[in-house]
Amino acid sequence: MSDLPSTYREVRLAARPNGLPAPEHFTIAEVPLPGPVAGQVLVRNRYFRVTASLRMMISQGAEKVQGVPFPALQVGDTLAGEAIGEIVCAPTGSALRVGDMVSHFLGWREYALVDETACTRLEPTLPEPVAHLGRGETAYAALTRGVSIIPGDTVFISAGGSAIGSMAGQIARLLGAGYVIGSAVSPGQGERLVRELGYDAAVIRDAEEPLEEQLAKAAPDGIDVFQDNVGGDQLRAAVAAARERARFVLTGALSGQLSPHGTGRTAPVELDSFQILTKRITMRGYSADDDPDAHAEWIQRFGDWLRSGDIVFPHVRIRGIDQAPDALMQVIKGRHLGTVVVEL
Ligand SMILES: NC(=O)c1ccc[n+]([C@@H]2O[C@H](COP(=O)([O-])OP(=O)(O)OC[C@H]3O[C@@H](n4cnc5c(N)ncnc54)[C@H](OP(=O)(O)O)[C@@H]3O)[C@@H](O)[C@H]2O)c1
Repeated sequence: MSDLPSTYREVRLAARPNGLPAPEHFTIAEVPLPGPVAGQVLVRNRYFRVTASLRMMISQGAEKVQGVPFPALQVGDTLAGEAIGEIVCAPTGSALRVGDMVSHFLGWREYALVDETACTRLEPTLPEPVAHLGRGETAYAALTRGVSIIPGDTVFISAGGSAIGSMAGQIARLLGAGYVIGSAVSPGQGERLVRELGYDAAVIRDAEEPLEEQLAKAAPDGIDVFQDNVGGDQLRAAVAAARERARFVLTGALSGQLSPHGTGRTAPVELDSFQILTKRITMRGYSADDDPDAHAEWIQRFGDWLRSGDIVFPHVRIRGIDQAPDALMQVIKGRHLGTVVVEL
């Protein structure tokens, strides 16, 4: 402990936003570094993920929802989320050692005192630790367990540049999809989906041309698989574009989570159930937690695909805890492609 600082910084909730968060809803506090505690390890965080899902933990009225794994935070609480870091202090007899790299859920702080049981030691399977913060596992589980890709399928991924979507488009292709379409916030981001992530085409949300028409042009024969991170207009457009016996796997609801209204914990949409019926569409809500066996399989394949150059891990590193609230605003505005992490 002797060469450790006596204090560290963490991001706290200063007020629960009514609508989308803004910088004034957060504060950066300097707090004393805790001493060692039985059953816990002290981790120096190296990276933590900044994700739109945080909205569901901090909004006014966003209390616990069944099936959502994020706790609701109160004013004064430190924010939380996936992080990776290095153990700097471990109790005697612990299976974890000083120097081990681990993942855990106490991001948004420079140091974290974490229950040993809440830490997962990182295997050296991936070329760099930050890749463990990618959301490819969710995309992979959804596209192998939530639905199956049949070779040649036309696949549509909503929020094709989000942490999940930026991996899902590439994974769908590697699993045999014949044509992959992603949605993006702007034509510029759409071009990046095609150029950097290998999408065949992009459709632009909130554009003048309705999504249904854009999808009809991108996939004149319709879509077979929809991996949905958004809901809302994109789900409605996917129903309109679906071929007979299309399979939908619903993994996210960004349209509700990032709506300027409400709590971020509902995502209502009006769908034409007649089309769902006549086209025999199947829709499955899916959480990667449903198939924990996918984790080891994904890490192995991800490592292999990264080394062979078949996949990229799009991510943006924003340096310094003081930049973290602004990083969240940037994620919400769709400014970045892929996973956004704060590097400490
Ligand atoms: N099922 C599971 O196991 C599981 C696991 C983890 C996360 N999730 C959920 O999956 C979804 C995606 O997660 P993620 O981590 O990939 O998200 P993320 O990267 O944090 O999301 C950022 C993206 O949100 C999009 N976005 C911003 N405002 C939007 C709006 N008003 N409407 C629609 N999209 C908007 C932006 O893309 P564009 O602006 O380019 O469209 C941006 O790239 C979330 O709903 C998350 O809660 C599910």
